[in-house]
Amino acid sequence: MNNGEQQVYLNGEFKAISEACVSVLDRGFLFGDGVYEVIPAYGGHLLRLDAHLQRLQNSLDGIRLENPLSTQQWQQMLTTLIEKNSGLDQSIYLQVTRGVAAKRNHNFPDQVKPTVFAMSNELKPVSRSEAEQGIEAVTLDDIRWRACNIKTTALLANTLLRQQATDKGAGEAILLRDGFATEGSASNVFVVYNNTILTPPTSPLLLPGITRDLVLELARTHDMPHLQREITEDELRHASEIWITSSTREILPVLTLDGEAVGDGSAGPVWQQMIDYFQDYKQQLREGG
Ligand code: PDD
Repeated sequence: MNNGEQQVYLNGEFKAISEACVSVLDRGFLFGDGVYEVIPAYGGHLLRLDAHLQRLQNSLDGIRLENPLSTQQWQQMLTTLIEKNSGLDQSIYLQVTRGVAAKRNHNFPDQVKPTVFAMSNELKPVSRSEAEQGIEAVTLDDIRWRACNIKTTALLANTLLRQQATDKGAGEAILLRDGFATEGSASNVFVVYNNTILTPPTSPLLLPGITRDLVLELARTHDMPHLQREITEDELRHASEIWITSSTREILPVLTLDGEAVGDGSAGPVWQQMIDYFQDYKQQLREGG
């Protein structure tokens, strides 16, 4: 634990965040040519590290970049990073870019030495009553590309969409493509429709969220009716509950959509059940797995 400045990892070294510098020729800076992960750690234990590292590998494969670290090296580095930073719970951000080329050129450089960066921020536990306050959401047209399964740092469309939602006083944008809900600007989406939990199936149109997987697994374990299938705009608008999920926001109920109440406008009974199972899961992880 370090009580001073935030400690980060950059290309093999741990250092204070103010000391960590990257070249202006880094392709992450010039082209958004990189991928990333966000991994929560509860009580020092990384949530589903294997699944996060597998998704990182898939993202790297998607941009044709070799993984610069072995599983063991990732594990060691991330564990050290957690130890060097404060917070019972932490959110780890890591990114790998295609590195620094001699000059700006769209083509991949011949010799690639990826830039590896990781930092940790405290993840403040959210109380039940805070989570119940939920969020307002708006629907927006999904203007992103068709490789949203790659967790790339090129997030301009996502940031524009999120800002549009913020400008409308909402906490998230739920994206619609060709009449179907895909996901949020930085989250996956679930609805409860006809007493069944629904989330769109994985495809290049959305990120396969690790929280999404966990929620589906909890639904399976606890015999809660659930399906992975397309959600039409009409079903979204008539759902009794809508939730968004992510590593940093966990499972949040959406209480209004485009200004209209979702269900009775409060956190619904299926969410109440799911959040209990999720909190139990987290607590077990904090206690050592
Ligand atoms: N984003 N979809 C998108 C577009 C996301 O950016 C995220 C998470 C998710 C949820 O994935 P997960 O459950 O694995 O966090 C879905 C992270 C938190 C971020 O960009 O900060």
